[in-house]
Amino acid sequence: MRPATFPPQSVEGTGLQSRLHTVLPAPLRVEPADGVEFFLTPGTTIRTTPTPEATAVGRYLAELLRRPTGYPLPVVPAGRADAPGGISLLLTDDGTGPTPDSTGEGYVLEATASGVVIRAQTAAGLFYGVQTLRQLLPAKIESGRRQTGPWTVPGGRIEDAPRFAYRGAMLDVARHFFAVPHVLRFIDHLARYKLNHLHLHLTDDQGWRIAIDSWPRLTTVGGTTEVDGGPGGYYTQEQYREIVAYAAARHITVVPEIDLPGHTNAALTSYGALAPDGVAPPEYTGTDVGFSALAVHNELTYRFVDEVLGEVAALTPGPYLHIGGDEAFTLSLDDYRVFVDRVQPIVTGHGKRVMGWHQIAVAGPSAGRVIQYWGTGETDPAVTEAVAQGAQVVLSPGNRSYLDMKYDAGTPLGKDWAGLVEVRQAYDWDPGAYLAGVPAEAVLGVEAPLWTETIASVSDIEFMTFPRLPAIAELGWSPAAAHDWADFRLRLARQGDRWSAAGITFHRSPEVPWPGTPVVPGPRPAPAAPEAPAQAVAPADG
Ligand code: ACM
Repeated sequence: MRPATFPPQSVEGTGLQSRLHTVLPAPLRVEPADGVEFFLTPGTTIRTTPTPEATAVGRYLAELLRRPTGYPLPVVPAGRADAPGGISLLLTDDGTGPTPDSTGEGYVLEATASGVVIRAQTAAGLFYGVQTLRQLLPAKIESGRRQTGPWTVPGGRIEDAPRFAYRGAMLDVARHFFAVPHVLRFIDHLARYKLNHLHLHLTDDQGWRIAIDSWPRLTTVGGTTEVDGGPGGYYTQEQYREIVAYAAARHITVVPEIDLPGHTNAALTSYGALAPDGVAPPEYTGTDVGFSALAVHNELTYRFVDEVLGEVAALTPGPYLHIGGDEAFTLSLDDYRVFVDRVQPIVTGHGKRVMGWHQIAVAGPSAGRVIQYWGTGETDPAVTEAVAQGAQVVLSPGNRSYLDMKYDAGTPLGKDWAGLVEVRQAYDWDPGAYLAGVPAEAVLGVEAPLWTETIASVSDIEFMTFPRLPAIAELGWSPAAAHDWADFRLRLARQGDRWSAAGITFHRSPEVPWPGTPVVPGPRPAPAAPEAPAQAVAPADG
């Protein structure tokens, strides 16, 4: 797939074989055409297959490119008689497109001196081809201000398709609330790396963030708190729809989580009748977990769950409703099972698939159920059993994929209960062979959750997300055979200039040879060679 030897003289001294080999996540196949380049010019046109979906991808691309280039980049319908040239986004079902893949998300990108053509079977495939094209342009294409060219794309061919259908990230908007524009910015981060699911952790002990018409106090009372006594906040249903639509325009499905039966103090404060003793507890703005639970043996609880999940299902075009299920420490195992066994049919009754943290594995099966594994070990008999009964798994091991874990002991934000998670730790594992008894066929995908007990601003979010999100994205997208830390860290280093151009805060991990850091020449290290221990790094980059 990639050459075993590594030319010491390579692209701009980066250690990478060609500019076409810089793409992250690593594509399925890359064939550079040496010495060939396409130049984006003031006369470049974007042609698309004239469907609304393909045209929308063309407009998205034009919007990305217009500001930094200053070019008009009109989006026009592709015609049969078009002369080659410009950028073409073509839907194809005639065998000229990518190798068929089970997700339909694949694409082929061909760049010659006269033009760039992206072919795909779906608009999602075109969108992923556009993300690749974006990375092939110079880093300053990410700038929000007019830059000078030349705007070149290296010649060659990329054939690509994802390994897993579910590639996600989670944002906890409950511990600290993040307003709509901040969520939209996070969605844009997912889109860059071909992630296709945004899991929103909408409710927790510290706050309830989605308006529910049938239970209004959830937000008028439960939405007014957050960790450390901040003002909290919530999304109106209209704002939530705006988030869903913005994500959908980027081929990202929103997965809403209503965390049940634990992590419910904000709900119980709003409606004391839902509490086991029928008494509303005081509001909670600390960061302990596991102390709250809905009353399991009270029919009002199931009316509440049905009405809340019914409204959330109606706002949610995607197939999943996440019901949490973690850390209900005050319930007996029997009561916990009773609760989950009652709630799963409520979810399917609203036409959705159950998704839940892996503790729900102990409940009975539910058709189409997805179990999200967040443990730190590599065996879990209840998950193995649930998979044997048909469940699929999304892998979010705490010690690999949790974006709220500190990078090192000096990281000024985050937690360390699951360990320290530097970039290589986030990257060096295989979701298809991670959990005992969970074969690759049972793995729906991967997700990187960002819990926000210690995260209170957009730059906090970005400092913890970059550079680890791209590591998880590559595990979700790229073929297992492409897994290669030595190559990944070089490609990741190239992303640093893009983040800087886009104004994105990131952790300058000492494991990554960021531009400006000398690249050590010489033979490429064998993939299995242990990394030299990371030097202590000043926490000043927070
Ligand atoms: C979790 O981290 N409590 C799912």
